[in-house]
Amino acid sequence: MTTTPTARFEHLLSSRALIGWGAPVATARPVASPLYEFGGGYPDPASFPYDDMVEATARMMKAEGAQALTYGDPQGYRGLRELVCHKYRVFEGLEVTPENIFVANGSGHALSLAFSAFVDPGDPIICEAPTFSGSLNNIRRHGPEILDAPVDADGMVTRVVRERLEGLKRQGRRCKLIYTIVNFQNPAGPDLSLRRRQELVQLAEEHDTFILEDDAYGELRFEGEPKPPVYALDRGGRVIRAGTLSKILGAGVRLGWLCAPRAMLPAFQGFNFGGGVNPFMSRVATWYLRDHMEEHVKLLIDVYRAKRDAMLRGLWEVLESTDVEISRPAGGFFIWIRLPAGTDSARLEELAVAARAQYTPGPAFFPNGGGERFIRLAFSYEPPEKCYEGARLIARAILDARR
Ligand SMILES: Cc1ncc(COP(=O)(O)O)c(C=O)c1O
Repeated sequence: MTTTPTARFEHLLSSRALIGWGAPVATARPVASPLYEFGGGYPDPASFPYDDMVEATARMMKAEGAQALTYGDPQGYRGLRELVCHKYRVFEGLEVTPENIFVANGSGHALSLAFSAFVDPGDPIICEAPTFSGSLNNIRRHGPEILDAPVDADGMVTRVVRERLEGLKRQGRRCKLIYTIVNFQNPAGPDLSLRRRQELVQLAEEHDTFILEDDAYGELRFEGEPKPPVYALDRGGRVIRAGTLSKILGAGVRLGWLCAPRAMLPAFQGFNFGGGVNPFMSRVATWYLRDHMEEHVKLLIDVYRAKRDAMLRGLWEVLESTDVEISRPAGGFFIWIRLPAGTDSARLEELAVAARAQYTPGPAFFPNGGGERFIRLAFSYEPPEKCYEGARLIARAILDARR
């Protein structure tokens, strides 16, 4: 096989491309070919609605004809934007209009558009520690100074957010945005409490900044009542909300969005390519979800609850008498584990590799170092039996990795 040499190009890269150049683009995980895939937040493949999607595609093509295959609205297919409004109304009681929605290539892309619109290199932003590793990779490419605030049982600790904002004010600086994952926080699991949602809005007002509210899992609630979105509590146009179809339809459709005050949308559009994001797939998703959304989400809730329960059972059966802390999320895809004192994380990694049970090491979720005492397990991908078996293997590895 012949290969073409790559010409030296680094010296020609733009200053934007050079930010974070050479840093990993994906989260590092220990197991090369896992038998138990608990690493990424992959949706359950057995629940993908293959037949109904085929049927929706045929129906859509017949009805929309050539429209389906041409350039689309730069803000995104209007039908999908209307559907997002319907989804917000059904699941969260949130009233917005299609003019507030900007369609993106998954919520990762949506978040990136928001960072591009607001964050210059060196700008201060505040996010949770821990937070979603993918968002950290995304944020870092924009070069901000990342200030962090811890997460407890009520979500992002707003007292620390306040301290950070006041510290910046004393330096004559201003936070560009506060990034928070509000429901079943990835990775730690809690919902942001109502009081803290209100307090964040108040802080954004007092310190003249914005809130980027990330909600990738809100519909997948196994227990309890949903809390109002931060977007709904805001009266000052200071909240941008990111959402996705990845977890309720399929990550391969690559459709997400930002919901934002209308006047802000051109700021995102300026960073997007022409023709709108995937108008064809937006139509397929819309035609499927118009008829099936509520019933499909209901099914998914049962599917993921059973997996969470199987994984928790496997973990606790083995780890019962240790000082481990294991989250019990009321929804979403992840379990967050604080390892027993004295766990050797390098040894744990070796044992997990031997058992071919994948996990994500804690440091991936911390913007400014730390996290060695934590791991995250995703229960979303494997069937319940494998969640149970694999959780027992990981739990056994945790026991055996004690110094
Ligand atoms: C909290 C959170 N935000 C955003 C995303 C990005 O998802 P996508 O780009 O598939 O919409 C994920 C995916 O795991 C996530 O967990």
